[in-house]
Amino acid sequence: MLLTKIPRVKCLSCSTELYQYQGFWYPLDILESLISIQENFKAKPTDIFLCASPKAGFTWLKALGFAIETRRTRFDNDDDLSTNPLLKKLSHDVVPWLELDFTNNIKSRDPKLPLLATHLPYTSLPESVISSGCKIIYMCREPKDTFVSYWHFFQRIILPNNKYSKEAQVSASFEKEFELFCEGKSVGGPYWDHVLGLWRASIEKPGTVLFLKYEEVKGNTLFSVRKLAEFIGKPFSDKEEMERVPQRIVELCSFENLSNLKVNKEGKRLSVGPLEIDHSAFFRKGMSGDWKNHLADEMKETMDQISKEKLLGSNLVF
Ligand code: A3P
Repeated sequence: MLLTKIPRVKCLSCSTELYQYQGFWYPLDILESLISIQENFKAKPTDIFLCASPKAGFTWLKALGFAIETRRTRFDNDDDLSTNPLLKKLSHDVVPWLELDFTNNIKSRDPKLPLLATHLPYTSLPESVISSGCKIIYMCREPKDTFVSYWHFFQRIILPNNKYSKEAQVSASFEKEFELFCEGKSVGGPYWDHVLGLWRASIEKPGTVLFLKYEEVKGNTLFSVRKLAEFIGKPFSDKEEMERVPQRIVELCSFENLSNLKVNKEGKRLSVGPLEIDHSAFFRKGMSGDWKNHLADEMKETMDQISKEKLLGSNLVF
């Protein structure tokens, strides 16, 4: 593919260029990896994909999916989750990340773990993911909160030793980034198209695609944990219910618990493109409605209007 021929735009916060491919915007390293994955990655029918747009709850979804999938089978023989790898590792390090870990399909898979995670939109998933009927679990988030989280994340990861930092600090402004996000020119954006792709797929194939909302999972995590377990074909047994395993998973994966673990407070993740990211950057407030503390009234109205127009006729409401 000739890079010079495809549309590109400056991403202010991350201060790199975003390239438009199959309707969505990506930094160059992710785009290259996406193309490689589309050509090389072969999904197995038993694979389960955990998907979300950046800043919509990906880290949490991975933790929940991992804790539910691996309970009792491998790490938690003592039933109280006290040996769960999530206590020692960031969730991004226990569930492989398709576009970061599988470029050229070289990473060997853990045969016992069917989980994979991705930010890719539905229409750009490798063909074998769809044709194999892999289960997909998607987490969407209210767009205003997603944007606020997105903004803070990129501000946070602009570290002195990132090669883009100087330029980014000068050029990024909240208002300008807001405009770009609204125009769909954000990492993995247009956000609304990403959400709608998975929403439609969940309606067409309810047994294959599970659509979750961050706000609903936050509002009743226990209910969502049971729903996730059923969806992946591992519902909680009566014995597990009696032993409060679902409740323990909720507690293990809670924002309060994960964000206070040493690994998530002090660890560093080095491998996301050119960026050096502290684990703690994946945990900020973990609440719904923080946009109220950041968006001016006109910004709120602009974004709500976009949501209204984009979601028209879809039966999806944020
Ligand atoms: P905020 O910036 O609003 O706090 P992603 O994982 O997709 O990068 O999204 C990050 C957002 O999810 C951040 O939102 C972060 O605080 C929140 N988050 C991370 N872990 C969480 C958890 N266990 N429970 C709820 N929210 C969580």
